[in-house]
Amino acid sequence: MKNRTFQGFLSLLSCSVILFACQQTGGKKEESKKPGIEKSGFGTLPDGRAVDIYTLRNGQGMEVKITNFGGTIVSWTAPDRNGKYEDVVLGCDSLAGYLRGVPYFGAIIGRYGNRIARGKFSLDGVQYSLATNNIGNHLHGGIVGFDKVLWTATPVAGDEPALKLAYLSKDGEEGYPGNLNVEVVYTLQKDNALKIDYTATTDKKTIVNLTNHSYFNLAGKGDILNHQLVLNAGVFLRVDSTLIPTGEPRPVAGTVFDFTKPTGIGMRINDKTDAQIRFGLGYDHCWVLSDSSKTLKSAAILSEPASGRVMEVLTTEPAIQFYSGNFLDGKVIGKGGAAYQYRSGLCLETEHFPDSPNRPEFPSTVLKPGDTYRTTTVYRFSVRN
Ligand code: GLA
Repeated sequence: MKNRTFQGFLSLLSCSVILFACQQTGGKKEESKKPGIEKSGFGTLPDGRAVDIYTLRNGQGMEVKITNFGGTIVSWTAPDRNGKYEDVVLGCDSLAGYLRGVPYFGAIIGRYGNRIARGKFSLDGVQYSLATNNIGNHLHGGIVGFDKVLWTATPVAGDEPALKLAYLSKDGEEGYPGNLNVEVVYTLQKDNALKIDYTATTDKKTIVNLTNHSYFNLAGKGDILNHQLVLNAGVFLRVDSTLIPTGEPRPVAGTVFDFTKPTGIGMRINDKTDAQIRFGLGYDHCWVLSDSSKTLKSAAILSEPASGRVMEVLTTEPAIQFYSGNFLDGKVIGKGGAAYQYRSGLCLETEHFPDSPNRPEFPSTVLKPGDTYRTTTVYRFSVRN
């Protein structure tokens, strides 16, 4: 009898342990469904400064991880048509990976996204010389651009969690004039969209063109050649062999640059009869949006037929650089030890036109003291059956 009671006690105990364990797991699941933002350590810079990584959750299942090193989006999960979440951006597991050198994976780009010819431009008759880090031209802010600096992060909790990142780019940094105070706010919305608000002010006339350099692969693996793309643009900028814009914008109609209707990226990417494809080694060009207003409008729709994932890009900017990952060559090791192969990710960088400081006919990228640079870009995910 006594023995029975003891056994009964034991089985009751094991049931409670199991129940407790279930509640704990359930609890964790519940936690991951709740909207919010969480901070953890991501490593240390060679000069001893600590780097953090923030996990933003929107309560619907989407999770975005952002580090204050370069304001970099490290991972971003999006559901497929069956509700299966997959990481849809290229990146590294640790800070060490980024410090070894990556081609701007997920980072904030500044002061100037894309190229400035020979790194030279003038403002009010004064010539400025910037670092030349790309076959004689200035690219993505120079040698230590905004992608390689440590930003000051402030998490903002709430139903739509946000991460505020601030950086003071000192007068003369990489050759640019003026102390530039930059703020970038990432907000993870309930509608599976990540909104990026960029603002900047200066104490001396300068130039600014900020963007984000995420490499997307909506299948979460393989190359991006089966992705379909729409670009709401009737013209693109011709470039020379160093990818600096030349001459008049060229209409896309009748060319391999026409993405006004959903078109497979791989369909014409190797059409070397077009010199522009040869110069870009594929797509690496600036499309001028047909809607030139500064309101938030649809710039691009990217979709991947097998998973059903769709990503729409909306922006207040006048243009979008579509880069098809032509410089990826399997040498950069990313998440889970993956060697990122040729065209395994693509970028849709919303921005002003490359080399605008030397092109008075292009929309201006000049920022004056007293004015505020303000742009917004939204990447919104959905699914298609
Ligand atoms: C941009 C440029 C490309 C290349 C990549 C980074 O998209 O236009 O030419 O420099 O960044 O590798």
